[in-house]
Amino acid sequence: LMARMVLDKDYQIAKVDERIYGSFIEHLGRAVYGGIYEPGHPQSDEQGFRLDIIELVKELQVPIVRYPGGNMVSAYNWEDGVGPKEERPRRLELAWRAMETNEVGTNEFADWAKKVDSDIMMAVNLGTRGIDAARNLLEYTNHPGGTYWSELRKSHGYENPHNVKTWCLGNEMDGPWQVGQKTAHEYGRIAKETAKAMKLVDPSIELVACGSSNTGMPTFPEYEATTLDHAYEQVDYISLHQYYGNKENDPANYLAKNMDMDHFIDTVTSTCDYIKAKHRSKKTMYLSFDEWNVWFHSNESDKKIEPWTVAPPQLEDQYNFEDALLVGSMLITFLQHADRVKMACLAQLVNVIAPIMTENNGRSWKQTIFYPYMHASIYGRGISLKPIVSSPKYDSKDFTDVPYIDCSVVYNEETEEVTIFIINKNLTDNITVNADVRSFEEYRLVEHIVLEHDNLKAVNTASNQAVVPHKNGDSQLKSGCLEANIAKTSWNVIRLK
Ligand code: AHR
Repeated sequence: LMARMVLDKDYQIAKVDERIYGSFIEHLGRAVYGGIYEPGHPQSDEQGFRLDIIELVKELQVPIVRYPGGNMVSAYNWEDGVGPKEERPRRLELAWRAMETNEVGTNEFADWAKKVDSDIMMAVNLGTRGIDAARNLLEYTNHPGGTYWSELRKSHGYENPHNVKTWCLGNEMDGPWQVGQKTAHEYGRIAKETAKAMKLVDPSIELVACGSSNTGMPTFPEYEATTLDHAYEQVDYISLHQYYGNKENDPANYLAKNMDMDHFIDTVTSTCDYIKAKHRSKKTMYLSFDEWNVWFHSNESDKKIEPWTVAPPQLEDQYNFEDALLVGSMLITFLQHADRVKMACLAQLVNVIAPIMTENNGRSWKQTIFYPYMHASIYGRGISLKPIVSSPKYDSKDFTDVPYIDCSVVYNEETEEVTIFIINKNLTDNITVNADVRSFEEYRLVEHIVLEHDNLKAVNTASNQAVVPHKNGDSQLKSGCLEANIAKTSWNVIRLK
């Protein structure tokens, strides 16, 4: 099979906002306790943060981490997590029905984020609480001093403000599972009024309003339209969340699911632009895809979790090779929408539907999805170009005309590097891609990294890294023509300089 491609410096979509390589840590399962934080572990630092995990997160170069939830934030009292640890209350954590010890809270998380060189995307509770708790938390985290909440922060040992710049106005407020679920009108009003108060406290912040929890919600996309009708001028982003799975074990259909994501992004973009037109606004609304991943492997075992325990092993999906391919395709989709999607968070980062896993008091390892995420984060910074691709196509259960070849290209002007991300979704055949790269005169092939495995269900464990990338991809670059042999079901990173 053959595919053709034209790449040109001038076919620019937009500069990639590096925050599309964000991730997420929720107080859920073993993400915090037993994940990033495990005092007493031989590799933990003086604060109890695991250094092996800090190193793995740094390998991913995660620019921003969403915190503290998730569903958890909708019944969270942030005040429980600050001040002397011995005075912090144990609480019933309602979203996941676990025990929250509050040993880690806002200040500790800010310390951890610094250790991994990330910014924080902080969510406020618009489920059980509202404007007051949100503006107080913002004053606590961002105000320099001389007020009740900023002085309280100082008294807790944090002289300097944390300067959190990105804030989520609640989480999945359309969901019946959410504590304090709201209709779009109820949510739009509270989002607008909370946004107004927060921007009075600190006008430099950016705010994300909740959109629908996924495309399957009955109120999608009306929820977005109504919310933005209320809050368009006060917020800067609308959020999108989506998880996919392969319950029916149909790999061809599964690997096509980023086409649904593509359609989702287009629909939300159109909805934003409709409200923009309706309001005669000059402002463009951007998209924050602040939860995305594969999530289905752990659904059954999660039903057996004992309630009200500390850090139970919840949402511990063990990812296989085909999951890594879909994660790669989703990253490609974000790059293709670099003009509107400015933030995205792989949900989540450690233990909970995560690229990084730990054993309690033991080892840590990289799941299969670690690799496409890492490659995109490291090499996908620059200008997203629009490759013109003609690829053979297939039909699957839910999709028609699925191109076997999924591709996005990032041109880094500063380093003068071009990175081509390519996936071949064909289950049996390799595809030769002929790419015209004439506008990148004098460029040479630096490397062709490949993630491939004969078994789509291969997984990585603490003792066995079965799915790891290699650098022996089969590509040649000769007089402006790149010829790349893209193996069946493979993720490829072709770097030119
Ligand atoms: O990431 C896991 C959960 O998925 C989040 O808490 C919630 O926002 C979403 O439903």
